[in-house]
Amino acid sequence: MKIAINTGGGDAPGLNAVVRAVVISAEARGWEVWGIKYGYRGLIEESEQGLVRLTRESVRGISHLGGTILGSTNRGDPFNYPVKNAAGVKEPVDVSARLVQRFKDLGFDALVALGGDGSIALASRLLDCGLPRVIAVPKTIDNDLPATDVTFGFETAVATATNALDNLHSTAAAHERVMVVEVMGRYAGWIGLHAGIAGGADVVLIPEIPFSIETVAAKVLQRERLGRTFSMVVVAEGAKPVGGSMIYQSKKDNFKQHGRLGGVGEVVGAAIAERTGKEARAVVLGHLQRGGGPVSSDRLLALRLGTAATRFLQESTESGMVATRQGVVSLIPLREATNGIRTVPPDSDVVRAGRELGVCFGDEPLDHFA
Ligand code: F6P
Repeated sequence: MKIAINTGGGDAPGLNAVVRAVVISAEARGWEVWGIKYGYRGLIEESEQGLVRLTRESVRGISHLGGTILGSTNRGDPFNYPVKNAAGVKEPVDVSARLVQRFKDLGFDALVALGGDGSIALASRLLDCGLPRVIAVPKTIDNDLPATDVTFGFETAVATATNALDNLHSTAAAHERVMVVEVMGRYAGWIGLHAGIAGGADVVLIPEIPFSIETVAAKVLQRERLGRTFSMVVVAEGAKPVGGSMIYQSKKDNFKQHGRLGGVGEVVGAAIAERTGKEARAVVLGHLQRGGGPVSSDRLLALRLGTAATRFLQESTESGMVATRQGVVSLIPLREATNGIRTVPPDSDVVRAGRELGVCFGDEPLDHFA
């Protein structure tokens, strides 16, 4: 077997551990592994550095490292690939047929594609266009893929955000301020919810539970009356007020599947300050949540999925995505893998735990647990 591996979309802690696992377990079977640099770019642009031979030696000691040794991009869709026209302006061009042909010409038997919903959907389309075989490995810090229990990168992002909350707590208390911490997660509130509850936030705002700013301000004032002169507020980047919409920094374009969310933390902070008379500061954790090495649970999951990808390549002839279902790794059809996104059920156990701990989600009258 000669297999190719690539990493697409936003990076997530654990990608390098998957690459290492695939390479070691493939080499043990006598197979050859090549890395495609920056999503599909290394294959499309045909430069010498675009494809790298991966051996036991080249993946030594990388499991604990953040980022990806293969590089990644979320502007590399082969069906809408940015190509400069005569005027030097980038236009979307469908280069998928060329990509599939080159893949075959190079003698590859299969692609192991590491990515989120967008990258997995692309791999699936390439399969329909003639790519011999695809095993997708799901990753995203957002944890929003419905087909798998949990995605690697998520627990690391939650740990980073929780750690930030711990650090911000003391400065909030020292200055009697409201600290608003904006976290990632796109349209799902998993990072905000888990970090918020673990980090002892007073208010957690997530996209799945639209908030009333009056309720949030009332919570801050209620704490004030009880002698707690500071408050910690976690806001997921996709959180929105009742009847309102998410805040974007930039819109999606021809080459990027999603617009860039961001800015709701600042807006919420200003609105709380206006209504409570308290000082508020907003902190955007941003890409800190994607950086750094994976925590042990993400690392272990990544190593399990990487070895499973190779195992399934040997044991079956199917394409699919490696997923964990109730803790067990299996190969599921790609069409199931890209079936919408998983959001937080508003009545989930973690939300209920938060409510019973007195956390305000911005949606309920406060005397509920007062
Ligand atoms: O999907 C991962 C993620 O980090 C989201 O949480 C966030 O909204 C987005 O990617 C940011 O993307 P970019 O790095 O392109 O700004």
